[in-house]
Amino acid sequence: MKDTTAPLHAPEAQTGQDEFAQAVLDGLRRNPKAIPSKFFYDAKGSHLFDKICDLEEYYPTRTELGILRSHAPDIATIAGSDATLVEFGSGAGVKVRLLLDALDTPRAYVPIDISRDHLLASSAQLDADYPALRILPVHADFATPFEVPRMASSNVVGFFPGSTIGNLTAEEAVSFLHVAAETLGKGAGMVIGVDLIKDRDVLRAAYDDREGVTAAFNLNLLARINRELGGTFNLDHFAHRTVFNEAHARIEMHIESTKAQSVTVAGLRLSFEKGERIHTENSHKYTVSGFSALAGRAGWSVRAVWTDEQDWFAVLYLERLDG
Ligand SMILES: C[S@@+](CC[C@H](N)C(=O)[O-])C[C@H]1O[C@@H](n2cnc3c(N)ncnc32)[C@H](O)[C@@H]1O
Repeated sequence: MKDTTAPLHAPEAQTGQDEFAQAVLDGLRRNPKAIPSKFFYDAKGSHLFDKICDLEEYYPTRTELGILRSHAPDIATIAGSDATLVEFGSGAGVKVRLLLDALDTPRAYVPIDISRDHLLASSAQLDADYPALRILPVHADFATPFEVPRMASSNVVGFFPGSTIGNLTAEEAVSFLHVAAETLGKGAGMVIGVDLIKDRDVLRAAYDDREGVTAAFNLNLLARINRELGGTFNLDHFAHRTVFNEAHARIEMHIESTKAQSVTVAGLRLSFEKGERIHTENSHKYTVSGFSALAGRAGWSVRAVWTDEQDWFAVLYLERLDG
């Protein structure tokens, strides 16, 4: 039984203010300018992402939820009883409920996220809703190795939904899957959600909705720089842009300067040409066979694949090859 008197806490952040400042200054001095997408997720960014998940154009969330709803019993059968579930980039912690409800006596849930307040809030909600489950949040960058709190005699299953793996380049994805294999340990499995290549208009609309929520999410990065690094970005003079990059099979999000201007960040003056862009996110799209080959390069084999009726999204059950 868990100790209900102990407050939820997450181990110390590995991603502090210094890392954010360094990444922004390095990224804005590069040509072309680029800032890693993980910095979208301050409290405001996480809130905006949750709104994106409810948009009609944003098919990935409801499609993946449908697959998980249909196949949670299959996942539970493969995972076995007494599992510790470790989620990478756990966000609002909505999808995991489908697995927790289907698994046979899950022992612990370890949500890992870079967005600290959001992580603690969603962990507290899960803690209240699943009284028999140990909830052990970890505030960390999932791309770097870290210690997973583990329960004795529990098999470990990773969970990486949301096609968050698509935000990594192929090389970064292979490296992440290697690190995840180490983190989860010998014998581990992993349930992973992967967005599939489809009609370009459907893809573009998902990242450029009519209500402008994704635009607000993208531009919040500049607002975050203003708030946390003393930036002077005027958001009226920057615009949200998306493109599908055919060569890399990925949606790219950019922020475009709508006029020639200069901006100060952390005391450093930076100039922007009219039309110059900051590359803020990649969202790679895969085929099932292409992703399975990538997972194989990182030491994972594919135990099962489930897709929706339109083949828009896939959920794969991976197992460590040396398991
Ligand atoms: C695309 S959202 C997916 C959220 C949720 N898993 C879902 O499926 O709806 C990405 C999540 O991963 C987190 N995240 C992004 N990059 C991260 C990183 N490098 N380390 C840890 N968490 C990260 C974000 O804060 C966010 O909660």
